[in-house]
Amino acid sequence: MKNKILVIGSGAREHAILRALDRSPQDKEIYCLVSNMNPGIAELCDEILIGNFNDSEFVVNYAKEVDATLAIIGPENPLANGVADALWEAGVKVVGPKKDLAQLETSKAFTRDLLKEYDIPGGPKYQTFNSINGVADFLNILGENYVVKYDGLAGGKGVKVSGDHLHSHEEALAYCQELVDKNGEFVIEEKFIGEEFSLMSFCDGETLKHMPAVQDHKRAYEGDTGSNTGGMGTYSDANHSLPFLSDNDIAEAHEINIRTAKAVKDKFGDGYKGILYGGFMVTSTGVKLIEYNARFGDPEAMNVLSLLESDFIDICHGIADGNLKNIDVQFANKATVCKYAVPEGYPGNPVIGEPIDISKIVNPDGLFYASVDIQNGQLVEAGSRTVAVVGIADTISDAEKIAEKEVSSIGGPLFHRKDIGTDSVIQKRIDHMNQLKRESV
Ligand code: AMP
Ligand code: GLY
Repeated sequence: MKNKILVIGSGAREHAILRALDRSPQDKEIYCLVSNMNPGIAELCDEILIGNFNDSEFVVNYAKEVDATLAIIGPENPLANGVADALWEAGVKVVGPKKDLAQLETSKAFTRDLLKEYDIPGGPKYQTFNSINGVADFLNILGENYVVKYDGLAGGKGVKVSGDHLHSHEEALAYCQELVDKNGEFVIEEKFIGEEFSLMSFCDGETLKHMPAVQDHKRAYEGDTGSNTGGMGTYSDANHSLPFLSDNDIAEAHEINIRTAKAVKDKFGDGYKGILYGGFMVTSTGVKLIEYNARFGDPEAMNVLSLLESDFIDICHGIADGNLKNIDVQFANKATVCKYAVPEGYPGNPVIGEPIDISKIVNPDGLFYASVDIQNGQLVEAGSRTVAVVGIADTISDAEKIAEKEVSSIGGPLFHRKDIGTDSVIQKRIDHMNQLKRESV
């Protein structure tokens, strides 16, 4: 039977999903619902439609119109709005969890409570609040190391970390009061110290197949300075681990993902079908869970999907049908470095509508379009992360050189982080972990 696949989302992550689908030799038609005209996606699909993909009724109507049999949901907002639930009800299989299960991403308190209830390792000391009562006392218990998290989707902007964004209990209390005034719930938790990494798993509700570990760089500028962003770039290593992780660290992250998938199945009676993305921190006392996302990471998707050797359509059916245990999931043993070119002024005050020139890119297959638009036949910046490039090689060092050369060749008012994936930054991560381990003995 011909595969009629609907893909939702229009960033570089979805461009990477389209590329992985395109590599499948299966007979297929691909339909895309997007928020902006992404030429990379447009080139690889049969039909592309701009519309509000957070609206379940609109998505279901379009899925019916094109007779879609399978949908892949890229971003978190449609998951939060129950688009997966609506598609399943309409008889369309979905890669992407239903609304209740997507709470792993949409509610910080849900995830912390789940870990506690099911005795899953990796959780911090935490408390949930909806008023200022008790906040000062709990901050006193945590001392200098605390994090305040708004309990909902906030595009990464709801989290404030001591030392980084909050410099005293007074500042923390003022931020909490701001959240109370907005009728917000929030979580205060222990701050972990270590190195962050992403470990994503394909999950069909029962079986998990893990992807290579990736490290993202959230800060806008070199040396991990500046505002938080969606992620400026990422790298992965040929052995599917990272230079600062032990085999045991990887095993702990796998175990936390496996036990979390089992816990949500137990809680809702319904399995998690989609990408389970654990945001972890390795510390001197083991691997800790920072957060869950209910989708592929962006940029992480560009790293791992560029390495995927197995048939992505088979994997998607395996996830939706609960048959993942019988599906082969193999990734190439290569290192990857992904770097984003973003508009000058990003993230606070990005230039918009300026033309960019990608004509000097050597390997178009390593270029992923994100927040771009076509105006008067010209490719222009649309305000968020603009285009990503991926370098693939035997070592991170060589992959970095490829990515750096490619991203530097892009013309226009853009910037990128030169330091991501460089030998000196990798060494810094290794030294940091070694130092933390030394200090703890
Ligand atoms: P989140 O939205 O939960 O991923 O938080 C955004 C960022 O805040 C993370 O990528 C971390 O850098 C930082 N963060 C969140 N929770 C913690 C924690 N418990 N300890 C240290 N850093 C954290
Ligand atoms: N790379 C961070 C995210 O996708 O949330």
